[in-house]
Amino acid sequence: MFSTAFLDLPPLASAQGSITLPGSKSISNRVLLLAALCEGVTTIHDLLDSDDTRVMLAALRQLGCTIEQSGATVQITGLGGRIAPQNAQADLFLGNAGTAMRPLTAALSVLGGDFQLRGIPRMHERPIGDLVDALRQLGCDVRYLGNEGYPPLHIGQAHIAIDAPIRVRGDVSSQFLTALLLALPLVAQTQAIVIEVVGELISKPYIEITLQLLARFGVRVQRDGWQRFTIAAGARYTSPGTIHVEADASSASYFIALGAIATRDGGENHIHIQGVGADSIQGDIRFVEAATAMGAKVESGPNWLKVSRGSWPLKAIDLDCNHIPDAAMTLAVMALYAEGTTTLRNIASWRVKETDRIAAMACELRKLGATVVEGEDFISVTAPASKSDWKAASIHTYDDHRVAMCFSLAVFNPAGLPVRIEDPKCVAKTFPDYFEALFSLAKADSAAIPVLCVDGPTASGKGTLATVLAERLGYHLLDSGSLYRITGLAATRRGIAIEPANAQALADMVGGLHIHFEGMTVFLDGEDVTQAIRTEEAGMNASRIAALPPVRIAMTAFQHSFAQLPGLVADGRDMGTVIFPEAPLKVFLTASAQKRAERRHKQLISKGIAATLDSLRADLEERDARDMNRSVAPLKPAQDAQLLDNSDLTVEQSVELVLGWWQGKQPFQHT
Ligand code: DC
Repeated sequence: MFSTAFLDLPPLASAQGSITLPGSKSISNRVLLLAALCEGVTTIHDLLDSDDTRVMLAALRQLGCTIEQSGATVQITGLGGRIAPQNAQADLFLGNAGTAMRPLTAALSVLGGDFQLRGIPRMHERPIGDLVDALRQLGCDVRYLGNEGYPPLHIGQAHIAIDAPIRVRGDVSSQFLTALLLALPLVAQTQAIVIEVVGELISKPYIEITLQLLARFGVRVQRDGWQRFTIAAGARYTSPGTIHVEADASSASYFIALGAIATRDGGENHIHIQGVGADSIQGDIRFVEAATAMGAKVESGPNWLKVSRGSWPLKAIDLDCNHIPDAAMTLAVMALYAEGTTTLRNIASWRVKETDRIAAMACELRKLGATVVEGEDFISVTAPASKSDWKAASIHTYDDHRVAMCFSLAVFNPAGLPVRIEDPKCVAKTFPDYFEALFSLAKADSAAIPVLCVDGPTASGKGTLATVLAERLGYHLLDSGSLYRITGLAATRRGIAIEPANAQALADMVGGLHIHFEGMTVFLDGEDVTQAIRTEEAGMNASRIAALPPVRIAMTAFQHSFAQLPGLVADGRDMGTVIFPEAPLKVFLTASAQKRAERRHKQLISKGIAATLDSLRADLEERDARDMNRSVAPLKPAQDAQLLDNSDLTVEQSVELVLGWWQGKQPFQHT
């Protein structure tokens, strides 16, 4: 997951490959609640691991459920429709998860107790009054702790009396009806319960999911149109024993769009999506029809989809999106690649989601150069008229996972502009590794992958600076010095003397080494050599082996292979001059030999290693001299390098300085 302040996506050229998507949020949270309410043990496979499921799991634990988790499999021992007295008082924090807040409100209200339900500030702006009104008709005690009609809520003891149909509004959020459908079987032992929907029910497919899952847990609901739902008397939740969560169809929309936009036409290229397909119970699977109407070529099987480019450019559509409210946001971004104006209608529910999605989409699409008209319940999008009308935008994401995910698709713009996604970690709500998944399928022209070089002499603080820069930008890190250190170590272990006469033998050895990195840990042929390569002797050997031209040549392709999406920070001696001469920013660090020796001295002493300042300084100067005077790739600033003397700067000051230079190279308009 990227937890950086922003993530810069370089322009991408194409995409293809296979992807297994994480579990559906809607199914995961419904199944968790059902498993918790019923009697017996339920094993749930392929459960989504995300912010919204975590808050649900935490709440269920607080209510006394025994939950065992092993990877994506969760085993829940249900409460059997009762909350034990010691758990009947709880303060539940539900983040921004509507799929936890609404159904838990209903279930706890009918069970009764002493509960507080709260969330993040945005949750306290999302309406719940229609559900509370319905619950009060039943005799539930629900009070508002803040604003009337909104969480946080207090729930007290219930005095259930059902003598008339329960009426609930269906035109603001279908989650209110879902919440009642999940909760009321708990009190339908002796009499049937009828729920009547007032107003036109929106997002009907989500009610389908609820009904399907209720059936899996032994409760049948009779549906008369979309107006009347009857839970039979004697309803009783029974565990299905084992249940699989299908992949999230709304998440699939980004990859369906990816196939439609970015697979190269004419060839065999496609995006293969696994975990969700034609048999899906999720309404958003009908995004496939909308995407097809815009030009996608889609084949499907029971739990897979294969998508490629059909018409190009895409075709504009005018569509009532009430049946696919979440996935429809992806259509708004596909409209950037369509000829004509795309209008998405009947989407008023967008205004009460994670953010006001109509306003958010309109604002961010305009930043990219699109023409947008928005209304109370529709949005019309016209793509930028020509290549030169596209703009490089920094996309504000409003703590809304879907805004972040769908705007990532703007990186295929014909102008070859990067797209900045602010607060990329908001995708954790439903798809923590979304960007990693995108990068695993997408290809950029190698010249488009940004590289930031940090070169400089020994002990100048390059490693620290480069590490922090990589963290702040969410980029990969290449510590090229460690490659020479590993090579030096391997030579010593194989008994090959590091001298010019053995240059070719040493270079031949390089090809056979298995080097890999896991975070800051370095492995040589499977052995952790992180410590072994950090000794002063290993540093000196590295400097000697690095002076041999055939060794440097043998190392080149391996270093290039580190330039991967979304970008790279490369530290060394010749990153800017030889390995990545086209890099947009090359920093050359300097610090006086005395300062560097002092830093190294401090480092060693803190590790309990004895050293004298004078000998360290002499070693540094010897290595500097060799690194600067060797015939190939000598240590020197690239012509266009930015010099940075960090003798008197803290690490944080150096980082801010370099990030400022980096920002200056980006085309984003400052907002
Ligand atoms: O950065 P370092 O101290 O880990 O590097 C060890 C040696 O490797 C250094 O003395 C010179 C050599 N080196 C190089 O020649 N080219 C690089 N890009 C990185 C390091």
